[in-house]
Amino acid sequence: MTVDPATTQPRVAVIGTGARSVIAHHVPDAFAGAAVVATVDPTPEGRARSAAQFPGVPVYDDIPALLAADRVDAAIVTSPDDTHADIAVALLEAGVAVYLEKPLATTLADADRVLVAAAEAGGTLYVGHNFRHAAVVRLMKQIIDRGEIGEVKTVWVRHFVGNGGDYYFKDWHADRSRTNTLLLQKASHDIDVVHYLSGGFTRRVVGMGDLMVYGDVTDRRDRRGEVMPDWFSFENWPAAASTGLNPVVDVEDVSMMMMTLDNGVLASYEQCHFTPDYWRNYTVIGTEGRLENVGDTAGGRVKVWNRRHEWAPDGDAEYAIEGVASGHEDADLSTMREFLEHAFAGAPTVVSPVAARAAVAAGALAADSMRDGSRPFDVPPLPTHVAEYFSASHLPSQSLGRIDR
Ligand SMILES: NC(=O)c1ccc[n+]([C@@H]2O[C@H](COP(=O)([O-])OP(=O)(O)OC[C@H]3O[C@@H](n4cnc5c(N)ncnc54)[C@H](O)[C@@H]3O)[C@@H](O)[C@H]2O)c1
Repeated sequence: MTVDPATTQPRVAVIGTGARSVIAHHVPDAFAGAAVVATVDPTPEGRARSAAQFPGVPVYDDIPALLAADRVDAAIVTSPDDTHADIAVALLEAGVAVYLEKPLATTLADADRVLVAAAEAGGTLYVGHNFRHAAVVRLMKQIIDRGEIGEVKTVWVRHFVGNGGDYYFKDWHADRSRTNTLLLQKASHDIDVVHYLSGGFTRRVVGMGDLMVYGDVTDRRDRRGEVMPDWFSFENWPAAASTGLNPVVDVEDVSMMMMTLDNGVLASYEQCHFTPDYWRNYTVIGTEGRLENVGDTAGGRVKVWNRRHEWAPDGDAEYAIEGVASGHEDADLSTMREFLEHAFAGAPTVVSPVAARAAVAAGALAADSMRDGSRPFDVPPLPTHVAEYFSASHLPSQSLGRIDR
């Protein structure tokens, strides 16, 4: 849908008023005239949060009630992962433009169901892979695009999920029947960025992982009515001393995967939920150099080595990471702006539903592999007409803060 942004005042609904629904506060800043006009949450606690967060905005129990009562042009879906596919399909079939939080779905079949529904409805689907808009990722992409490390050949990602106990093991995230795997819930960002930096999608994947620490924690409780950050504290340490874990804990707390991309790039991703520190470390090696980030928010650096020498901690060039010092508030605003400008002004996007599907495919099949003797799984292709429907263009790179040596 392409309309004149000057005359459009998109009416936006928020689906699921938990921790992540705060991104909807960006709506008025992201697109002039846009406003949150309704919310949906099936729980009394969610509806109470809606009243506090979006005062005066009507809240409905489910999608049919919303669609029957109100006209909405767009919806921001911030409900749990296992609800994404059904909600997105219902909204797309009703002609509503959808911002769907990552992961796109918890299975490849559901991911494909959403993309097919969008293509067949001729609708707008945007998956909230906000990490593409994070300063550290923009910086690494620009370095690669400038040719500073030559042609990318291999990408290695280590993910230290220091807040893992609080973020992923005290509610539905810990339950396979709700998330499938933390290679979707958590790693889908990084798998997407591996694809983005490499210029390809995973074709074959193997996985290995285990539940090593949180499975032995016997202090469990049902936290219905609470949401993050109600229970968050840096004092919750070490991980094995965690209390109040979700009654069901069966996702892996260490997950590792190796990927062969369709352009020949080889990649790996390792995730651990009981490290003391919380950040991601990327190494990208090309034919003429290597880059690595130290820190992933403001104050951090991306270093580039592209001359031959012995061990050199400083790199041959170093670039400051800009943006916020913690979290991803800046990327969230950029992402919301991109969604609304795409839906209501036809602007191109950096994120892509086809890439979101590729991330689900790699993560879900890596989980299948790690639960089946680490045997390799091949990613089945997306139907061509669906891929073509989403052929989105990419925006140009942004400016850099190079520190010369
Ligand atoms: N992109 C990011 O950086 C990022 C960060 C955090 C969370 N997320 C994503 O946001 C989503 C929500 O995560 P959260 O941490 O806010 O979860 P949460 O548990 O805090 O909130 C989920 C809310 O959805 C409601 N809900 C449950 N079933 C629903 C349904 N069928 N329809 C409508 N509402 C329903 C719940 O009552 C709750 O209020 C997840 O998919 C998660 O992956 C993305």
